[in-house]
Amino acid sequence: MKDASAQTTPETIYLKDYKAFGWQIEDVHLTFKLSPDATRVVSKIHFAPNPDAPEQEFFLHGEELNLIRARIDGEAVTPETDARGLRCKVPSGPFLWECEVEIAPESNTALEGLYMSGGMYCTQCEAEGFRKITYYPDRPDVMAVFTVRVEGEMPVLLSNGNLKGKGDGWAEWHDPWPKPAYLFALVGGELVNHPGAFKTMSGKDIELNIWVRPGDEGKCAFGMEALIASMKWDEEVYGREYDLDTFNIVAVDDFNMGAMENKGLNIFNSSCVLASPETSTDGNFERIEAIIAHEYFHNWTGNRITCRDWFQLCLKEGLTVFRDGQFTSDLRSAPVKRIDDVITLRARQFPEDQGPLAHPVRPESFQEINNFYTATVYEKGAEVIGMLKTLVGDEAYSKALDLYFERHDGDAATIEDWIKVFEDSTGRDLTQFKRWYSQAGTPFVEVSEAWEDGTFTLTLKQHTPPSPGQESKAPYVIPIAVGLLGPNGDEVLETQILELTEAEQSFSFEGLAARPVASVNRGFSAPVVLSHDVDRAFLLAHDTDPFNRWDASQGLAKECLLAMITTGAEPDAIWLDGLEHVLRDQTLDPAYRSLMLDLPSASELAQVLADQGVTPDPEAIWAAGDRLVKARAERWKDLLPELAKEAEVTAPYKPDAEQSGKRALGASAATLISRLDGGKAAQARFDSADNMTLQLSALGNLIRVGQGDAALAKFYEQWKDDRLVMDKWFGLQIGASEPEAALDRAEALTQHPDFDWTNPNRFRAVFGALAMHHAAFHHKSGRGYALLTDWLIKLDDKNPQTTARMCSAFQTWKRYDAGRQALIQVQLERIMAKDNLSRDTSEMVSRILA
Ligand code: PHE
Ligand code: ZN
Repeated sequence: MKDASAQTTPETIYLKDYKAFGWQIEDVHLTFKLSPDATRVVSKIHFAPNPDAPEQEFFLHGEELNLIRARIDGEAVTPETDARGLRCKVPSGPFLWECEVEIAPESNTALEGLYMSGGMYCTQCEAEGFRKITYYPDRPDVMAVFTVRVEGEMPVLLSNGNLKGKGDGWAEWHDPWPKPAYLFALVGGELVNHPGAFKTMSGKDIELNIWVRPGDEGKCAFGMEALIASMKWDEEVYGREYDLDTFNIVAVDDFNMGAMENKGLNIFNSSCVLASPETSTDGNFERIEAIIAHEYFHNWTGNRITCRDWFQLCLKEGLTVFRDGQFTSDLRSAPVKRIDDVITLRARQFPEDQGPLAHPVRPESFQEINNFYTATVYEKGAEVIGMLKTLVGDEAYSKALDLYFERHDGDAATIEDWIKVFEDSTGRDLTQFKRWYSQAGTPFVEVSEAWEDGTFTLTLKQHTPPSPGQESKAPYVIPIAVGLLGPNGDEVLETQILELTEAEQSFSFEGLAARPVASVNRGFSAPVVLSHDVDRAFLLAHDTDPFNRWDASQGLAKECLLAMITTGAEPDAIWLDGLEHVLRDQTLDPAYRSLMLDLPSASELAQVLADQGVTPDPEAIWAAGDRLVKARAERWKDLLPELAKEAEVTAPYKPDAEQSGKRALGASAATLISRLDGGKAAQARFDSADNMTLQLSALGNLIRVGQGDAALAKFYEQWKDDRLVMDKWFGLQIGASEPEAALDRAEALTQHPDFDWTNPNRFRAVFGALAMHHAAFHHKSGRGYALLTDWLIKLDDKNPQTTARMCSAFQTWKRYDAGRQALIQVQLERIMAKDNLSRDTSEMVSRILA
C-alpha cells in the first residue's frame, strides 16, 4: 500500500536562487577509522565568516550519518539534525568545528559516499556524495585544503594529494590545492600497483600508479601509456602541467559511471581502465584511452578551475569532453573521431533534446543533480565549445583559454565567466551565442538554393521546436561550414564559415562558371538537423570533406530505408554503387570505409519517420534493415572477400588506429559474409581468434545467424572468471539476436547465477543491450517494457542513480503508436507507484510522463 504522506514532493533547486555559503573554510582535517559496518569519521574544520555572503543560518549537509559528537571551539554542542543535514548556533567570528560520525560502507549499495567493492573501500563524492561521509557544506563553491589520515588494516591506504607519511595500518595525505568536497577520495584495500613515471615540462618528476586487485596487474600497461600521453598532450597543446608529486588511478568493479577525476586520485570503473588484447576490444582500448585523458584533463578543467554550482556542470564537462576529443583526434584519425562523435550525438543527445527530458546545456532547475550528467551537458556541451572555437578561430581560442586559466585558476566559476574570457580576449559580443547554453532543443536548419547569372545563393532557415518549459526559441548563432563543388567534382570554393544569426538568412557566391553542388555543415560544424535537397550521390562520390562524404551516404541510407519501410521499395542501386566505389578505394582509411558500411540505427530511423509525421513501426524497421543487409551481402559477394583479405592483420596485435581500422573493416565484411554462408566463416574466425575484437565480432555474427549456442557456451567456459568479459557475454547475446530471441535471452539471463544485478556494469550489460535493441525493446507484446520495469523497480531501493539513468530508455515513447504508448504508460505508472521511490527515479519518470 502506498502511503501518500510518506513521499513528500521533492524540492526543486533553481539556478536563480544561488546564494554564497556564509563561511569560508581555512582547512579540513579528516581521520577515518575504517570498518565495514562502523567506520568512524572525525572532522576538524576551521570556519570563518564569508564577508561576501548574505546572512544565513549555519547549515551543514549530512545524510545517512550517525552523529556521535560535535564540538565548537572545544565545547560540546547538540545540533539539530534532519534527513538533509544539521543546523547549529555558531560564534560570530572564526571557530573550530569538530565532529565524529559513524557510517556503514558495507551496506552502502547506492555506490555514493564511502562504500565497498570487492572487499575494498572506495568513495564516490560527485556530485553530492561527500555529505554521506561527514557533515560538511557539500557544494562546489566551498573550497578547502584537506589533510586526511586513514586508519585501517589494509596494506594500501590512499587519499588525495601527496603522501605525508605511512606506517602499519595508517597513512596520511595532504592535498595543498584547495578543492570542493566532491573531489575528495579515499581508497583502502589489498591492491597492487602498476607503476609509471612522468617528467613534467618544468622538470618535476611525478610518480604514477594504477592500483588494481591482485590478478589484474597484467591489464594496466595500456592505461599507463594513455596517462603519460595525456600528460604530455596537455602540456603541449594547452600548456597545462601536473601539480602534485603523485598521480594515482584506482580500478573498482562497482561504479555507477565511467570514472571520476578526484584530485590526484582518479577512481575508475574497472571497465574503463583495465585492458588486454585477449579480453578487450579495439573499441574498449580507444574508449579507455579517451577516458583516462578525460579524467586527467579535469585536473585543470574541473579541479584547478571548478564549478560555482551544479548548474555550471557543462563548464567542466563540456570543455573536458571537447579536450579529450581533440586528444583522440590528434592521436588517431580526426575524421573517424568526428564521425564517431556525431553517431553518438545523434543516437544519444538528439533523442534527449527532442523528447520530454530536453534541458539546456546549462539547466536552470533540478531535483536530483545526478540526473543531469547527460548527453546534453557532456556531448552538446562539447559541441558548443567546438562552435565557439570555429567562430573565433584557432588562435583566438588558444588565447582565450590562456586567459581562462590565468584569470580563474583557483576559482569556482560560471558559464558567464567562461564567455567573458572569450569576449575580453576577442572583443566579440557573445550575447547571442549564450543561447546555446540557455535554450534546449535541437535546431532544424533548412537549406534552399538559387542559381542566377553565375551567382549561387544559399538561404538558411533555422527553427527550434518547443521543449519542456520553453515554448518559443530565439535564433541561435550557428556556424555553418560550407564548400562548393563544381560539376566535375572539383572544389570551386574551399570551406568557409557562414554565420547564421537570423531566423532566415541568405549567402551569395558570385562569379561561378557553373551551378555548383553545395556541401553544407561540413565536419558537422553545428549540432543541428539539416534538411537540404542536394545530390547526395554526387557528394558521396566527390566531397572533399570526409565527414560530409560519409554523411551523404548516411542520408542516402536513410532515404533508402524509409522507402523500403513505407513503400516496400527495393534497395537504392545508385547509392549502393556509389558506396561500392568508396569501399574499393584503397587510398581511403579502412576505418573510414568501415564507417561507410554502417547503417543508421533503428532508433534514428524511427525519429526520422516521426519527424515526417509517420508513426514508426519497430517491426517494419527491423525487417527493412534485415532486407537491406541481405541485399548488400548478395550484391557485394565478390567484393566482401577482397575487403576481408585487404583488412587482414598479420602483425602482432596492437590497439592502434591503423590495426583497429583494418579489423573494423574486416569485421564489417565478415558480418555481411556470415549472412551468405550461414556462419561458416564466422565459426572459423571464432575458433582461431587470438584477440577479443575478433572473437567477439565472430561470436556476434554466429548469434545473429542462429548458430551461436555452442560458441556462447565455449566463450562462457573460457571467460567465466573475468567479470568484464562476462559483461560482454551477457550483452552480446541480447544485442546480436533477432527480436524475439533477444527477449527470450534477456529474460533467461536475469535468472542466470552470474547475473549480479547490484553490479552496475552487469545490470547495464543486460538492460542496456535490451534497451538498445530497438525491435526487441519495442516488441508489440510489451515484454521488453515489462522486463525492464520489473528490474528498475527492484534496483531502485539499492541503487537509485543507475535506476534513474536507465529510465531514459523510455524517453522516446511518444514517437510510437497508441498501443505501445499505452503499454509504456502502464509501466511508467507502475514505477511511480512504488513505495519509497527514490528522488532520482521519481524525477526522471515524472519528467518522461509529463
Ligand atoms: N565527473 C565524472 C567525469 O565526467 C563523471 C562522474 C559523475 C562520475 C558523477 C561519478 C559521478 O569524468
Ligand atoms: Zn568529466
